[in-house]
Parts: sequence; structure tokens; C-alpha cells
Amino acid sequence: MQTQFDESEFLIETIVPKDELIVSRTDLKGNITYANETFAKISGYSIDELIGQPHNCVRHPDMPKQIFEDLWSSLKKNNFWEGVVKNLRKDKGFYWVYAQISVVKKDNKIVEYKSIRTPISFQDKIKYQKLYDKIKKDTKDLQRIIIYK
Ligand SMILES: Cc1cc2nc3c(=O)[nH]c(=O)nc-3n(C[C@H](O)[C@H](O)[C@H](O)COP(=O)(O)O)c2cc1C
Repeated sequence: MQTQFDESEFLIETIVPKDELIVSRTDLKGNITYANETFAKISGYSIDELIGQPHNCVRHPDMPKQIFEDLWSSLKKNNFWEGVVKNLRKDKGFYWVYAQISVVKKDNKIVEYKSIRTPISFQDKIKYQKLYDKIKKDTKDLQRIIIYK
């Protein structure tokens, strides 16, 4: 199955600075409870807009469903997930990150999840774009197409 987007909206990359961390926390359903300034700046949303939103507000259509299924099952099984994510900005541009997600405990009970993200190399962006395109194709997930006019 294919879907069509206006390619001009998807081609602007925001670079995550090397000396900054994108930090967020969610409740157990994945709704954002905390966002730092860097998350707001890189995603193009204000902190107020992010708080209360489901974290899939930054989900990019290039990301295979399978990666998030793995994220949630690893979080539930091992209390941890790490991986490379392409995210969608409010203006429909994108940014790549290496994300580590873990649990926040209170009185030995899991109360939230937290995520810390750092930049990845240009080579890794190419590698993961190809990998995710392949996973989407192999799993018959929605595919990215670019139409040259
Ligand atoms: C702490 C935490 C951080 C997350 N960060 C992201 C993220 O940066 N980008 C993203 O697309 N999904 C992220 N997710 C996963 C989303 O909750 C969601 O599962 C994903 O965007 C896929 O959307 P869907 O579950 O509606 O299919 C995060 C989840 C948690 C618990």
C-alpha cells in the first residue's frame, strides 16, 4: 500500500546539536508529562504544546510500525529500549536521534517512562533510512514515495 505526501514538506532536516540532549517523560500510556527546552526547539513545538500530547505527535511516517512494537514490548519486558528514530517536526520537517528509553520508579513501582536522545552521524542516517525503507517494504507497511514534477 502506498500513500502520497507533498515531498517539499518532508525534505527539511533539523540537526540536533552535539552538546544538547532531547529529554522527555511520559505516563504509562505514552502521553508526554515533561519536555525540555531542546525537545521543544528541535521538534518546533512549545513545551506547553508538547505536555499532554501522546508522544506519537512526533512520529514520522517513514518509521516502521514494527520499531514501535519492539519499543513497547522491550519497555514492558526489560524496562529499557534503545534505537534510532526519525521524528517529525511540527512544520513537517524531520530530525534523527539515537534514543534511550527507560522507566521512572517511585516506591519501587514504575510510574513513568523517560527518554534521552542524542544526534547520530550522517552515515547512520543513510543506513537507518535504507533499513527502515526496507522493513516497511518487507512488512507491507505504508511506503514513502517521492514524485518529481
Ligand atoms: C518515553 C517515550 C518516548 C518516546 N519517544 C518517541 C519519539 O521520539 N518518537 C516517536 O515517534 N515515538 C516515540 N515514542 C513512542 C510513541 O509513544 C508511539 O508508540 C509511537 O510514536 C508510534 O505511534 P503509535 O503507537 O500511535 O503507532 C516514545 C515512547 C515513550 C514511552
